[in-house]
Amino acid sequence: MFKIDALKSFVRANAHFAIQATFTKRYMRCSSVKQQLHDFKVQGKGEISSLKAQLSYEAAVALPTPEVIDEAVSLMPPRPKRIVMGITGATGAIYAIRMLEMMRRLNIETHLVISKWAMATLKYETDLSESHIRSLATASYTAKDLSAPIASGSFQHDGMVIVPCSMKTLAAIRIGFCDDLISRAGDVSLKEGRKLLLVVRETPLSDIHLDNMLTLRRAGATIFPPVPAFYTQPKDLDDLVNQSVGRMFDALGIFVDSFHRWNGFERQKKA
Ligand SMILES: Cc1cc2nc3c(=O)[nH]c(=O)nc-3n(C[C@H](O)[C@H](O)[C@H](O)COP(=O)(O)O)c2cc1C
Repeated sequence: MFKIDALKSFVRANAHFAIQATFTKRYMRCSSVKQQLHDFKVQGKGEISSLKAQLSYEAAVALPTPEVIDEAVSLMPPRPKRIVMGITGATGAIYAIRMLEMMRRLNIETHLVISKWAMATLKYETDLSESHIRSLATASYTAKDLSAPIASGSFQHDGMVIVPCSMKTLAAIRIGFCDDLISRAGDVSLKEGRKLLLVVRETPLSDIHLDNMLTLRRAGATIFPPVPAFYTQPKDLDDLVNQSVGRMFDALGIFVDSFHRWNGFERQKKA
């Protein structure tokens, strides 16, 4: 479109029937400009014919070719699955670590943000260093960096998970007051119609928490409190974490075989 505008000014400023003929011959082949050129010719007829011939045929040859216009658009190259992850200061950092480890094994590209209070809980609840946690992700950012790619809707991804998600970050996204990178990326995911999984963690829940969750659910987010299932007969904490994390992957549309799925009541075989 911009090229047509440039060409219009060019022809208006340098109108010559020879140029116009060349212009027409070359650009009529390009279907995307055909209609606009036609409209221009109709509207600009009198204008062009009243202008004096000034330019040589060579000047017209310097006009961009239809191929240049056609080359300006091509499809984005294929890329691996890409997930954005925010870790906030609610308890349950272990879920985020397990997800990151699994995504790494699944060759999923991950973009990680860790809030200031998440750093505190990670330190308290795990014995992993910040640099180790960041190294599990493909790219990582500070929560203050609102210029990071994931702050923009033009950055394409396949979903965002905030795990665990504090009531503070939940509230920020609910009202659209997004002054850190986690809430901003969550807000952007919603406005772009992408998956947003909120692994909300608090108990008990107040009217305010519940109201925030309902509003965000209606806005397209998935509210996923990491409530364990006991029908899987977990043997230890690892089993519980794996089951919840597996269901989080399900909610992101990534189906893994790392946990026990319900398959109806299975009779225990007696020895
Ligand atoms: C050990 C610890 C555990 C916490 N657990 C929770 C929790 O489960 N849910 C929650 O909403 N806030 C929890 N908080 C409070 C949040 O860290 C706090 O509200 C913080 O402002 C959240 O900010 P963020 O969302 O930017 O990380 C906890 C704080 C600490 C220190």
